[in-house]
Amino acid sequence: MTAVNTDSDEVRTIEAESSPTRFARGWHCLGLSETFRDGAPHAINAFGRKLVVFASGDGAVNVLDAYCRHMGGDLSQGTIKGDEVACPFHDWRWGGDGRCKRIPYSRRVPLRARTAAWPTLEQDGLLFVWNDPEKNPPIPEQAIPRIEGATSKDWTDWVWYSTDVYTNCREVIDNTVDMAHFFYVHYSFPTYFKNVLEGHIATQYQRGTGRDDARPQESDSGTPKVLGNTSVASYYGPSFMIDELTYHYEDRDVNSVLINCHYPVSPNHFVLQYGVIVERSDDGDTSAEDLAAKMIDFIKIGFEQDVAIWKNKSRIDNPLLCEEDGPVYQLRRWYEQFYTDVADITPEMTDRFEYELDTTRPNEAWHKEVEENLARKTATEQSA
Ligand code: FES
Ligand SMILES: [Fe+2]
Repeated sequence: MTAVNTDSDEVRTIEAESSPTRFARGWHCLGLSETFRDGAPHAINAFGRKLVVFASGDGAVNVLDAYCRHMGGDLSQGTIKGDEVACPFHDWRWGGDGRCKRIPYSRRVPLRARTAAWPTLEQDGLLFVWNDPEKNPPIPEQAIPRIEGATSKDWTDWVWYSTDVYTNCREVIDNTVDMAHFFYVHYSFPTYFKNVLEGHIATQYQRGTGRDDARPQESDSGTPKVLGNTSVASYYGPSFMIDELTYHYEDRDVNSVLINCHYPVSPNHFVLQYGVIVERSDDGDTSAEDLAAKMIDFIKIGFEQDVAIWKNKSRIDNPLLCEEDGPVYQLRRWYEQFYTDVADITPEMTDRFEYELDTTRPNEAWHKEVEENLARKTATEQSA
């Protein structure tokens, strides 16, 4: 008798198309704007090309295509002269609007002397650039919200960090709905987990408790014990997440805003950036600056844990999910809107979608695992 090949016998295969060569429409944060105000032009590799970022004499920070339309000189190797960036090859002067303003050795600027200029936004100490494959101006409804603490004396300055990651940026987006990885990869313990997707915003509501068997954040002695955290984290568009994150310490609550953002360099390379500001409080003996520095170290560990996974994993278009997984497919449909011409965006990409995960079963399993780990630790300590 031959075996009947039922569906359940079939081997599941991983499907994965290659990463899109198109880059997402939307605001992308390039980092702290002060980085670009040192009087020199800066090279940024993004959206499959080389850009030049320069602060002109009038105070604006501008982003242009780096390669000079005259004979291909690299403007990021040039100098800033007044309101323009001067090409190192023949000194053509390019304005922030992308127009060549002056050629010192020529009577006239050719009529078509215009290069690509990217819309920019400087806000709360951060520099953003608008990418749109259709070349339309920024969508007003998709403005990045203000971050109150960023301009307040009651909060610290940004502590900022940037790192290159060699995979497609969809991997970092997936994290938004991936509850279980927080336990296994980040050694945190989610007790509440909900997502709301609507329009260009994707939000993750999360509460968690400390984990007694794994506390990488307390490797430094003297750090107060974190009992848990409450987090509301929203992507505004394809790449910029604002996370209102409160850490509940033994003795107090600490409010912080964590930014998690990235910009694509190429289909399989992105620059991941994150930064934090922390609200000052009078009580407690650790200064807010110290806390911010400690937090960024901790957050860095978290991202390194993700990166270690991304480095080795396969791209997968058909993840095989269980009931306790978050809405990966819905999130990816939401994310698809940024890779679609505006005219072709469908309601399923932007309609409100809400999903709260039932954490009962995962929490039971995780409590058990934590207890086992602790028991094993005690046993090893006693036998030592
Ligand atoms: S290539 Fe830029 S001025 Fe000639
Ligand atoms: Fe993660």
